[in-house]
Amino acid sequence: MYKIIHKQVIAQDIKKIDVAAALIARRALPGQFVMVTPAAEEHQIPMTIIDSDERRSTISLLVHEVGPATRRLGGLAIGENIYQVKGPLGQGSRLEKYGLVICVATGVGAAQILPVCRALKKKGNKVIGIIGAKSKKVLMLESQMRVVCDDLFITTNDGSYERKGFATGLLKELLEKYTVQRVYAIGNVEMMQAASRMTSSKNIPLRVTLNPYMIDGLGTCGSCRVKINGEFRLACTDGPEFDGHAVDYQDLTQRMNVLEPKVWHEPFHPTVPRRPGFAKLLKSLWVSTKR
Ligand SMILES: Cc1cc2nc3c(=O)[nH]c(=O)nc-3n(C[C@H](O)[C@H](O)[C@H](O)COP(=O)(O)OP(=O)(O)OC[C@H]3O[C@@H](n4cnc5c(N)ncnc54)[C@H](O)[C@@H]3O)c2cc1C
Ligand code: FES
Repeated sequence: MYKIIHKQVIAQDIKKIDVAAALIARRALPGQFVMVTPAAEEHQIPMTIIDSDERRSTISLLVHEVGPATRRLGGLAIGENIYQVKGPLGQGSRLEKYGLVICVATGVGAAQILPVCRALKKKGNKVIGIIGAKSKKVLMLESQMRVVCDDLFITTNDGSYERKGFATGLLKELLEKYTVQRVYAIGNVEMMQAASRMTSSKNIPLRVTLNPYMIDGLGTCGSCRVKINGEFRLACTDGPEFDGHAVDYQDLTQRMNVLEPKVWHEPFHPTVPRRPGFAKLLKSLWVSTKR
């Protein structure tokens, strides 16, 4: 059992929790994730390890409540136990001393970029962060990002905080202004694809973190297949971070669209399995076999 030691409301439907998990805290690398089963009857979900504290034997997770499992996890109180936490999983991020690095994230990607920025800073890089959010209400980890970045820019789509517009607009401006050695982008597929276009025209290496639907997180179910340099790779074991110029974004978009909620016609509704992920997996496998 994994006890919740600390919990904080970060923004609307977004909670940060510190979980007692000594072994994971000791081994976790920036960019790795855990598979979390909030309660015995719930399915497991991937969550990025945003921080790990070996001394306190804890890991920190940032939970954006979007469905049943994330709501169940976000609803647990301090002192309550998470049923299961497996990890650390995936490969750690590629992190060296490069010089000037821009790290851009949208939505829950802010949780994933935070440990990357922290590690890049520790390696001696100058780190410029960009966080894009739909509005101030759902902006997350601003203060934590300010600590680990030399400069932080924030964009909101509705203009409710800092600069109005999209993170990619700001990225374009900064790439014109500075000589940048490397970019990290984590967020929605359109943003990462736009970052890929902008950086490839300037020959700047790009690392992206992909979040396809994951069922086991162990490389056995095939649900997280992504196309890299024309070959299939598993995001859970080969990634989730990849060379942003080698990703097939069209294939990724198709896979991510499988996740979008569908309106079921009344006669079919009673046959939908209780666990929504199962229906999505079947659809995604069906899409794969049509290739
Ligand atoms: C490697 C990895 C790391 C992740 N890290 C975090 C994290 O640190 N914090 C966090 O809040 N979430 C993270 N996610 C996303 C999180 O795992 C999903 O939101 C979660 O599985 C949804 O489960 P659910 O039962 O609550 O909702 P579901 O009913 O399964 O899904 C609800 C809706 O959420 C969206 N969704 C579901 N899964 C994904 C996904 N993999 N990517 C994008 N959208 C999705 C879809 O629109 C779906 O319709 C990560 C995903 C991956 C693959
Ligand atoms: S989640 Fe099953 S293979 Fe990656």
